[in-house]
Amino acid sequence: MKTFAENYDEVLVPVIFQPWAKELIRAAPPWDGVNFLDLGCGTGAVTREVAASGVSATGLTGVDMTAGMLDVARKRGQEAGISANWVEADATSLPFPENQFDLAYCQQALQFFPDPVKALTELRRVLVDGAKVAFCVTTDLSENPLLKSQSAAMDKYIGEAAGDSVRAICSLSDGAQIRAYFRDAGFKSINVEEVSLTLFHPDGYEYAAGAMGGMHTGDKLLELSAERRDECFREFLIGLGEYFDGKSMKFPHVSNVVTALA
Ligand SMILES: C[S@@+](CC[C@H](N)C(=O)[O-])C[C@H]1O[C@@H](n2cnc3c(N)ncnc32)[C@H](O)[C@@H]1O
Repeated sequence: MKTFAENYDEVLVPVIFQPWAKELIRAAPPWDGVNFLDLGCGTGAVTREVAASGVSATGLTGVDMTAGMLDVARKRGQEAGISANWVEADATSLPFPENQFDLAYCQQALQFFPDPVKALTELRRVLVDGAKVAFCVTTDLSENPLLKSQSAAMDKYIGEAAGDSVRAICSLSDGAQIRAYFRDAGFKSINVEEVSLTLFHPDGYEYAAGAMGGMHTGDKLLELSAERRDECFREFLIGLGEYFDGKSMKFPHVSNVVTALA
């Protein structure tokens, strides 16, 4: 059976995280000679995108607290011929000296840091003065039909704790709050912009099975009968309403994109 991280990388990254990685690069383009940090790097989607952009970086570093995610990042990075440092660490305690990096991205991870200001202060410490950062953080459930429908189906078929794991993705939706966190951590020129991407999967049922099975609650899903599992996936797809055409899914995904200077 695939690990959580393998499933994440195969199912979620192409549909959700790769498009957002491209958006971060648009918001803060990398340059030749950059020494770059990918904070909460997961399986390395953003770092791979930076490498694929063609810039020749002097350093690519990904940090995450989850060893399983880093294992996949390392493997996928090697397959793509990317030479990067994959470091297991908590965002609130980075194992680097100060003034190291001149660009940092953090994609869909700030909302999971237990103390965002502490993590941002620590990030500021390892950045050179004037370094640029770009973050994205999913907005409210009401603006994100995929997550809304997924959490409702999980509440019903698996239990509220399962739905909560999806709602946590939308737990830091207030742009003013995010701006205050960056200000309190000492960042300047802070810009918070709500961006909506239209995301697509050609086979909604396949996505449902991958995104709900084998993920945070995959073990619980396996306890259901095949019929109940099938009902759960179908309920999720029906809940997408206009964003599911009977086969494919095409839906808005909204995030606050933050850029700031150290
Ligand atoms: C939704 S994933 C996003 C991963 C990656 N940025 C991507 O684009 O695919 C959130 C990641 O944040 C990491 N994370 C959560 N809390 C963390 C912390 N305190 N320090 C470092 N990483 C953390 C998780 O392990 C997970 O890999």
